[in-house]
Amino acid sequence: MPVPRIGILTISDRAFAGAYEDRSGPAIRQTLEDFLATPWEARGLLVPDEREPIEGALRALCDEEGCCLVLTTGGTGPAPRDVTPEATAAVCDRILDGFGEQMRAASLRFVPTAILSRQVAGTRGSSLIINLPGNPKSIRECLEAVFPAVPYCLDLLGGPRLETREEVIHSFRPPP
Ligand code: MTE
Repeated sequence: MPVPRIGILTISDRAFAGAYEDRSGPAIRQTLEDFLATPWEARGLLVPDEREPIEGALRALCDEEGCCLVLTTGGTGPAPRDVTPEATAAVCDRILDGFGEQMRAASLRFVPTAILSRQVAGTRGSSLIINLPGNPKSIRECLEAVFPAVPYCLDLLGGPRLETREEVIHSFRPPP
């Protein structure tokens, strides 16, 4: 069995230009290292806040790299250059509204500005794509809120079986 691959896509004009270091991509990676008991491989990319590069990176991670899960960070807010949700919706076959609803609901316990995040999630073939906000702290907050449903979602998509470290995060699979 090949090692499951997970795509980590940082979407940020400033990180892409080298104006600051990308701290969000590494925050996703660290959170997944904490959560997952199954061995996995990361495939990381960094693109500016523009639809074409975002859509191209999502297609490459799903179709060429074969990532079962792709997590994006950044570009979900209401600023004019925030286009991550549109790019994600454009490459997805189906939208899974519950992810965005759950992340916003959970994040509102931490910051009132969580309401500003337009993050979406959806499927492309057998890959699951989930948008996370750009703030590194928001990444764990959002992943804690939705990750319990991710392994079962990948089961339903025909993807690899992911096991979580139960003492860190519980993954829920309905009894057969
Ligand atoms: N969600 C959580 N959990 N924690 C946060 O700090 N920041 C919010 C929101 N969601 C935040 C959050 C803010 S300030 C914005 S503008 C939006 O996410 C969009 O962020 P993005 O454009 O970097 O994706």
